This record gives sequence, structure tokens and C-alpha cells, in this order.
Amino acid sequence: MSTLSLAGRVAVVTGAASGIGRASARLMAARGAAVVLADRQDPAETADIIRAAGGQVRALALDAATEDGADAFVRTALDGFGRLDILHANAGVSGPLPPDLTVGAGDFSEKHRINLIGPWLAIRSALPHLKPGASIICTASVAGLRAGAGGIPYSASKAGVVSLVQTVANAIAGSGVRANAVAPGLIETGMTAPLYDDARARGREDRIGQLNPLRRGGEPEEIAELVAFLASDAASYVNGQVIAADGGLTSCLPVAPRPAGGRPGT
Ligand SMILES: NC(=O)c1ccc[n+]([C@@H]2O[C@H](COP(=O)([O-])OP(=O)(O)OC[C@H]3O[C@@H](n4cnc5c(N)ncnc54)[C@H](O)[C@@H]3O)[C@@H](O)[C@H]2O)c1
Repeated sequence: MSTLSLAGRVAVVTGAASGIGRASARLMAARGAAVVLADRQDPAETADIIRAAGGQVRALALDAATEDGADAFVRTALDGFGRLDILHANAGVSGPLPPDLTVGAGDFSEKHRINLIGPWLAIRSALPHLKPGASIICTASVAGLRAGAGGIPYSASKAGVVSLVQTVANAIAGSGVRANAVAPGLIETGMTAPLYDDARARGREDRIGQLNPLRRGGEPEEIAELVAFLASDAASYVNGQVIAADGGLTSCLPVAPRPAGGRPGT
């Protein structure tokens, strides 16, 4: 059996009604995991897609960034499928991209509640039930690694997610449970729909993703591949890491982009 197989595993995915969470839930189910979907929008459509493909699934409409919500999705995994092996703490909200130097405590707190405290509550609820070989994956962002990819509260919350997986991986040393994060670049999802819609409306779709060396935006399925890898035994020695899937965006210092195929000095 491939080490990428998730047969017999049970996964929870938050933010599974849309985008990256939907793609990761679909892929992990396709690789054999039973999946619990949690989202504050009803994730029934994602559940239908997984069920139609022959997967085992439960769907919960709840706020994942509350203690009760986190306890509920962990309990559903245990009661519905008897165990919990994989936690993809992915639910998140962004907000405006340009830096807002007037943002207040309310907005700042709400981004942190959903993007950072939510993953922590999920981890805290899941930990007592995770056995050696289990895997925690949080969705961070390139915005948590560098400036320029998100607003101030969003970027700070995602930098917190980077620290969260590093500190959790070390706090649970010896447990055999791994904790990692994925840091997506620009991915076409519900979150980025306004940007894509606006570019298309202006006939500028070809400008999307031009800052990275692959010169394109990414698809949710390209992040799901990384999540499913980290969930699997194929990633058995990958721990406490944040792995970017961003077309190479964070590999580069800021320079003026050259035309495709252009050489230095040309
Ligand atoms: N799309 C990108 O370019 C991009 C880049 C980097 C990181 N991310 C991160 O990826 C993750 C998934 O976002 P996406 O791009 O798929 O966007 P999306 O809007 O398509 O999906 C996010 C999902 O999270 C859910 N959600 C938000 N708050 C919630 C809460 N409190 N409880 C339960 N569910 C909640 C939403 O209802 C939605 O279904 C987020 O953490 C986001 O910050 C996205």
C-alpha cells in the first residue's frame, strides 16, 4: 500500500464548505480517510460530493473558533468513526489587502479568534485522542511569512499559526504526533473570488499570479496535495514545519519582474 494512503484514518477538516478545505477533504476521502467536515456555512455540498464518490463523511455547521465547536467536531469523529488521526485546521477569514493603519481592536481580535485561536482550540480538543502517527496540519499563509500578501491583522494571525505549529510540535515531543502548516500563495477560492472577479471584469486575468516565478495563481487542489501528503505516513519525518505552496513567491527578494524567459541583463 502506498505510504500516501489514508485508508482507515479519520480526518477533521475545518472550513470545509469551500476552497482549500473542500479540496483537502475531497482528496483525503479519495485516499481512504473518513472525514468530518466543519464550517460555519453548511458544508452539506462538500459532503454530497464526497458521498457520491463513495467516501464516508459527516458534516457540521458550526463556528470552528469556539470551544464548543472544537469539542463538537472532535466528538463527531470519535462517535461517528471511532478515532481521530488527522486534523486540518483550515478555517480562516482575510479582509482587505491594503494595510489599514486605523484597524481597531474588534477587527483585529476577530481575525485572531478565527485564524489563530480557532486552530489552537481544534488542536487542544483533538490532542488527547491523537495516537502516534497522527498528523495536525494548519493552514497558515505566505502572508504569515512576509509582508505584502495580506492586511495587518490577517498577516499577524497567520504568523501566529506558524509559531503555533512550531510550539505545538515541541510541546508534544515524544507523542509521535506531528504538527505542520501549509502556507499557500494566491489560490482561487471563495476568499480570493473578489480579486479574480475584478481582474476578469477588467480583462486582466493574465496578470494574476505574475509576481511568482510560475507566473500563475494556484488551485485549491494544489494545496490539498500538500495537506494530504502531510497527513500521510509519507511525511513521517516532517514535523514542526511550515511549507509554502506559492509558485515560488517567497523564494525571491523583491526585484522588478522580467518578461518570461528574460535573462539577467536582457
Ligand atoms: N485563497 C488564498 O489565496 C489563501 C492563501 C493563503 C492562505 N489561505 C488560507 O486558506 C484557508 C482556507 O481559505 P480559502 O482560501 O479556501 O477560502 P474560502 O473562503 O473559500 O474558505 C474558507 C472557509 O472557512 C469558513 N470559515 C470561516 N470562518 C469560520 C469559522 N469561524 N468557523 C467555521 N468555518 C469558518 C468559511 O465559511 C469558508 O467556507 C484560510 O485559512 C485562508 O486564510 C488562503
